[in-house]
Amino acid sequence: MERLTPKEIVAYLDQYVIGQDDAKRTIAVALRNRYRRMQLPAEMQNDVIPKNILMIGSTGVGKTEIARRLAKMMSAPFIKVEASKYTEVGFVGRDVESMIRDLASAALKLVRKIENEKNAEKIETYVENKIIEKLLPPLPAAAAEQKKAEYDASFARMQARFAKGELDHLKIKVEMPLSSIDFEGSGLPPQMINVQESISKVLGGINKKGKEKEVSVADAKRILAEEASSELLDEEQLKELAIEKVEKGGIIFIDEIDKIAVASGSQSRQDPSKEGVQRDLLPIVEGSGVHTKLGLINTDHILFIAAGAFHLTKPSDLIPELQGRFPLRVELQSLTKEVLYQILTQPKNSLIKQYQALMAVEGVELIFDEEALQSIAGFASLANEKTEDIGARRLHTVMEKILEEISFTADERHGESYRVTEQMVQEKLGKVIEDEDTTRYIL
Ligand SMILES: Nc1ncnc2c1ncn2[C@@H]1O[C@H](COP(=O)(O)OP(=O)(O)OP(=O)(O)O)[C@@H](O)[C@H]1O
Ligand SMILES: [Mg+2]
Repeated sequence: MERLTPKEIVAYLDQYVIGQDDAKRTIAVALRNRYRRMQLPAEMQNDVIPKNILMIGSTGVGKTEIARRLAKMMSAPFIKVEASKYTEVGFVGRDVESMIRDLASAALKLVRKIENEKNAEKIETYVENKIIEKLLPPLPAAAAEQKKAEYDASFARMQARFAKGELDHLKIKVEMPLSSIDFEGSGLPPQMINVQESISKVLGGINKKGKEKEVSVADAKRILAEEASSELLDEEQLKELAIEKVEKGGIIFIDEIDKIAVASGSQSRQDPSKEGVQRDLLPIVEGSGVHTKLGLINTDHILFIAAGAFHLTKPSDLIPELQGRFPLRVELQSLTKEVLYQILTQPKNSLIKQYQALMAVEGVELIFDEEALQSIAGFASLANEKTEDIGARRLHTVMEKILEEISFTADERHGESYRVTEQMVQEKLGKVIEDEDTTRYIL
């Protein structure tokens, strides 16, 4: 991932998100800049701080979708948070630093996965040997040469059967892993999180070994793989790797940032906690140290991507200091009829493909006439114009309306095909769209 070029990143996103080229480009460049920075001499690296991104666009145009896809693609620690959750009423706000702790946890998981993949072969051998040893009667220590040879031969036979999965249904006894206790996200104050480890250690000390349990070989594979991994990997080293990953490559996507902006000149009593959250964000975005279960994490080079619809507020309603920390602004376009049509049909797992797959489960072939698809996009676009613009989400309501009958009866129509024609779309939606109020209710 680190080496992906901007073009490659955009090409990846193109598979899932239609249009929004500016946003894709800006993000791609920001990510590539992380890589460029890493190639610089150490003393210069420190001066190159990431330029955070603010994505502005009305609801349903793909802001969260871009983040979601980015997360899938990245082998960098990545989390998505909602800014508004830090202002929750009746709660003294969740502390904003917790986002760094969540990122740290994500990074630890990630490096563990990467290291496990590196050790995949060793882990497999460990698992295989353990399982076969349990299935074969043990060889006495003072066995004769001939016995040993026999043992080796049956071991080899078992290996072959193991590889084919022929042993999967057998039962064996394995030691269950000690369940580790995770206080992360439990709302405990940060000081307490370090206590977690101490408690786990103490508990681990009392019953050093997990309980033995009879499980199938198939399940044992998973359990023993975990055991192998914990024997092979050095926790301290993992933590160090994770810290490095977070500090140099971590990305935090802050969604709904507009919800913590305070509209200027608004008469209603403002929620003072919103500005508080913005102030709490400042040091983190600016760069500061945060205590996590990995240790102290410096946030200087973490990339922040904030996104918001900014319907009721404007980016300039954020406190000036925070505005200044998000110098890259990208606007997402609202979706035209043409784009809606593409969203309906083009992405991997587009809405049409989803409905077709769902109907296929019932043995019903769902067919859409080309004109019908055009017409669906047209109605969605019209409904967005006439009422609120809810972007691509409108397609969902329109599709539900069109398919409501077949959705209800599909289970009784096994083997049939169901063709959606332009005329059907017109019949179902033509009336609805004529009246604004009905549109509001139905679409
Ligand atoms: N440009 C697009 N290309 C493909 N799919 C899209 C696009 N825009 C939106 N969608 C689809 O519409 C739905 C809503 O999009 P998304 O969650 O990204 O909205 P958003 O911009 O984050 O809106 P909000 O401000 O309400 O959070 C998703 O199912 C997404 O797949
Ligand atoms: Mg969103």
